[in-house]
Amino acid sequence: MSETPKKPRVLSGIQPSGDLHLGNYYAMMKPMIASQETSLLFCFIVNYHALTTVREGKNLRKGTLDAAMDFMALGLDPDKCVFWVQSEVPEVLELQWVLSCLTSMGLLERCHSYKDKVAKGIVPNSGLFTYPVLMAADILLYQAEIIPVGKDQKQHVEVTRDIAGSFNHAYGETFVLPEARIDENVAVVPGIDGQKMSKSYGNAIEIFSGENVLRKRIMSIVTDATPVEAPKDPDKCNVFQLYQLLGTPEEIQDLSGRYRNGGMGYAVAKAELFEKVNDYFKPFRERRHELASERRYVEKVLKEGAEKAGYYASKTIQKVRRKTGLSFRKFK
Ligand code: ADP
Ligand code: TRP
Repeated sequence: MSETPKKPRVLSGIQPSGDLHLGNYYAMMKPMIASQETSLLFCFIVNYHALTTVREGKNLRKGTLDAAMDFMALGLDPDKCVFWVQSEVPEVLELQWVLSCLTSMGLLERCHSYKDKVAKGIVPNSGLFTYPVLMAADILLYQAEIIPVGKDQKQHVEVTRDIAGSFNHAYGETFVLPEARIDENVAVVPGIDGQKMSKSYGNAIEIFSGENVLRKRIMSIVTDATPVEAPKDPDKCNVFQLYQLLGTPEEIQDLSGRYRNGGMGYAVAKAELFEKVNDYFKPFRERRHELASERRYVEKVLKEGAEKAGYYASKTIQKVRRKTGLSFRKFK
């Protein structure tokens, strides 16, 4: 008799630091939601990470519940996965400390995400600097194997592998080395200014915006000054990049042909993009609207999720305490 194959552990988290956008959805949320059918899925709202930049308690609290409701509205089924808020399983901070003692300064100093945030004017605190160690603790605490993320997080998963390797080397095989899962077609979704779309760059197209805001946002995507009649290169246009996320292959080919033929202004492409985004997200928006009045239910879901997550976390943390000598009492 053949054994049932073990389901792979898939894990990823999102910061409750602002409204979620198309980049978050296509790179992380959509693949995560799809994996609930085939894997042991761990999905969580990383509020400890968001503390590196969010300064108002009420914003963090609201952002956390909003992100949870967003995930559920988009189809995450708490009965098919482990879904919780990071700070409700505080063992992660203990593991972070242990791992930080095995992490060289150089490894963190090389992290692009930290350097980019500082370059964008975020005043660095030591939490921002050690952010990747907390992310490593998130992943290793749940012994996750596959991490669906956008390209900006690739290096953090590599750092996690390095740290896990150092721990295994020092204390013996303990952690699985995780791998980032990055879909090249959505690795870096551009924002309305052509830079990487981000909650913190003011260039995002938010997935739960109402229809009017959504239309305005899409109509304000930056394009070049090529006149209406002239042929245009779709591959250099932000509108076309975004259209590729939603169009069918035939629709993408058709729009690409109209760019190249000339005679079509960017406003037409923007209007078509708006229709696509609006039609796709409309049912999710409606569900999201309902969930907004079911706050108690969402809180209950997150509490139960934290209990499930705690079960996995405690197994790992006990192992770590034993191996490192932190638990000094004699075991039976
Ligand atoms: P943000 O940069 O908007 O604050 P987060 O850091 O919370 O987003 O990222 C959550 C997830 O979404 C991560 O896996 C990240 O790689 C992914 N992501 C964020 N922005 C983009 C983007 N523009 N393109 C592709 N993936 C993205
Ligand atoms: N650092 C990730 C981001 O900014 C969020 C995150 C925290 C995460 N812990 C994680 C992602 C663990 C994947 C796995 O997007």
